[in-house]
Amino acid sequence: MKGIILAGGTGSRLFPATLAISKQLLPVYDKPMIYYPLATLMAGGIRDILIISSPADLPAFRRLLGDGARLGMRFTYAEQDQPRGLADAFRVGRDFIGDDPVALILGDNMFHGEGLGQTLAAAAGNTDRGAVVFPYRVANPRRYGVIELDGESRALSIEEKPERPKSNWAVTGLYFYDNQVVDLAASLKPSPRGELEITDLNNLYIAAGRLLAVPLGRGYAWMDAGTEDALLQAGQYVAAVEARQGLKIACIEEVAWRMGFIDIDRLAELGRSLAASAYGQYLLTLAGEGR
Ligand code: G1P
Repeated sequence: MKGIILAGGTGSRLFPATLAISKQLLPVYDKPMIYYPLATLMAGGIRDILIISSPADLPAFRRLLGDGARLGMRFTYAEQDQPRGLADAFRVGRDFIGDDPVALILGDNMFHGEGLGQTLAAAAGNTDRGAVVFPYRVANPRRYGVIELDGESRALSIEEKPERPKSNWAVTGLYFYDNQVVDLAASLKPSPRGELEITDLNNLYIAAGRLLAVPLGRGYAWMDAGTEDALLQAGQYVAAVEARQGLKIACIEEVAWRMGFIDIDRLAELGRSLAASAYGQYLLTLAGEGR
């Protein structure tokens, strides 16, 4: 299973905060935003990841994440010269995907909750049945792709940012697909807003009876950074949980270690390289070398 993080776009809804830096590199409390979707894919067992961003921003992602070897991962990078919509990720990522199934996560989507890794690993095992999406109940569904489910969590339809939502269930920015996605995405036409819509792609899977919905219940947190308030709320959530538990959310070095991608010596080494920060000290404490 391969993974793609889409970290493109201009972040225009957050201007001027994103005039000189990619939205997905802004801090969410104590770490760059992209750590959150990255940690999510890692927790699902995905180690081979393509990061897609604009030509201007890609060098900064490379500087931050490198080739992934220090985390026992493999990172590759690809440019999206124009923001053409989410489904464009499968055109840009075609060679990377090859013959494999693939998970796509949006670079500003943050998931948190006990058992998420197992849920995702199970979804990864289900892509032979088509696509998997993860609906989440929200107070204001109009901002999202909205899914209508029958009594057995079977998807009936998805509508993108509907005026009159048929449910309160938003389709979150995490999607698992079989390899057919590459050809299906290539067949899409731009929507009235000029984008290749992930919702159109998902509706092709629904029409074929090949989309599985795995609702994330109220024990999960799902946040995005669409607005300054959403960004601040996400940071406050992370700060509150981390302070209370003394455990970090989306600490990619910790996830790599807990998933068995790296050993404890590597974890300590990574901690030493960041030792001046509380984040680095956290890694050292995990590795048994805390002060
Ligand atoms: C995109 C998708 C939407 C989905 C959302 C999740 O919207 O088009 O279906 O619900 O991501 O974050 P965007 O926020 O890019 O407008």
